[in-house]
Amino acid sequence: MSYVTLGRWDKNDLLSMDQFSKYDIGMIQQYAKILEPYSGIFHAPRENLDFCRGRIMKGIFRGESNTSVSTRTRESFKTAMTRLGGESDIFDEKTSSMEKGESFEDTLRYLDACADIFVIRDSVSGSLEEYASILKRPVINAGDGINEHPTQALQDMYTMLEFLGRISNLSIVFVGDLRYGRAVHSLVKAVRKFPNKIYGVSPPELGMPEELRGGDYRDINLSDLADIRPDVLYAARIQKNLMPQEERERHSYRLEPKILEMLPKHSIVMHPLPRTDEFPDELLRDERVKIFEQAYFGIPVRMALLATMLGYDEKVVSLQDRRY
Ligand code: NCD
Repeated sequence: MSYVTLGRWDKNDLLSMDQFSKYDIGMIQQYAKILEPYSGIFHAPRENLDFCRGRIMKGIFRGESNTSVSTRTRESFKTAMTRLGGESDIFDEKTSSMEKGESFEDTLRYLDACADIFVIRDSVSGSLEEYASILKRPVINAGDGINEHPTQALQDMYTMLEFLGRISNLSIVFVGDLRYGRAVHSLVKAVRKFPNKIYGVSPPELGMPEELRGGDYRDINLSDLADIRPDVLYAARIQKNLMPQEERERHSYRLEPKILEMLPKHSIVMHPLPRTDEFPDELLRDERVKIFEQAYFGIPVRMALLATMLGYDEKVVSLQDRRY
C-alpha cells in the first residue's frame, strides 16, 4: 500500500543520496527556499502553515550508548513538522515493551499504525533498508552508522546555494575524518552529481573510503589550500563514537585559524556539527564560517522533505502565489 504521492523515489523512502537525481536535489532546494520564511530560522514565521495538520512524524534514535544521539537532526525534524502544522513524537525504547523483551522488528510492525512518516537513526550501517521493508509508511534515514546521512547532505547543498549562488563548478575540500563521517559520505555523493572538484585532507587511516573516490577526487595536504583556492572548506570531527573502541584515542586534528588565511575571500567554511577540539572558537570570528546558518537550514530543508514525502508538494508551490 502506498500512502504518498512522490513517485520518483523508491517506495517513497529516503535512505541514500543515491536515490536523488540532480532534478530531485533542485526541487528540494526550491521548496526549501519557498518554505524558509515559514520556518522561523531567522525571523518569526510569516504565517503558521497547516498542511500537515493531523499528520504524525515519529522519530526513532537508537543504537549502542552514544552512537545514535542527536541534537540538530532530531530537533530540526521536530521543528520542521511543527512548522508545517503537524505533530511529532520521539519513540523512547527504554520505556517501551522492548524492556520486556519485544523485538525491534515487532515494535516497528506496531508503530506503523501510530505515525504517517518515520525518521530513524541507527548505529548499524545499512540497517534502515530492513526497517523500511517492515514499515509501510515512508522512512527517512537520519544517519545509519558510518554509512549515510542524506538529509544533512541536502541542507549542506542548500547552504552552498545560499552563500555561493550555485552547487556546481565548485572546488570543495573535505577535512577531518572522511572514513567514518556519514555526513561527508552523503555530501560527496551529492556534490558528485554536478561538475565539482572534490579534495580530501585527513589524519592517517581516516581517508575517504575507496568507493567514494574515483572521478577527479584527490587527496591533498592543508598546505595545498592556497593553490586550490577552494570555494568550500568542509570540516568534520573525528567520529569517535562511530569507530572501534581501540581506535578512539589514536586520532586527532585541529583546524588552526591561520588555515583560513589560505582561503579565498568568497569561500565558506562548513561543519555538520557537533564540533569538538578540531574546530576552535577563534574560527567563529571569521565571517566566512557559516556553520550555524548551515545548521539552521536543516529546518526549511526538512520541511521541504516532509511536505513532499507526505504529498503536499502542490501546497508548497502554491505558497509562491501568496501576497503579503
Ligand atoms: C552528524 C552526524 O550525526 O552524523 N551530525 C549531524 O547530524 N549534524 C555529524 C557528526 O556527528 O559529526
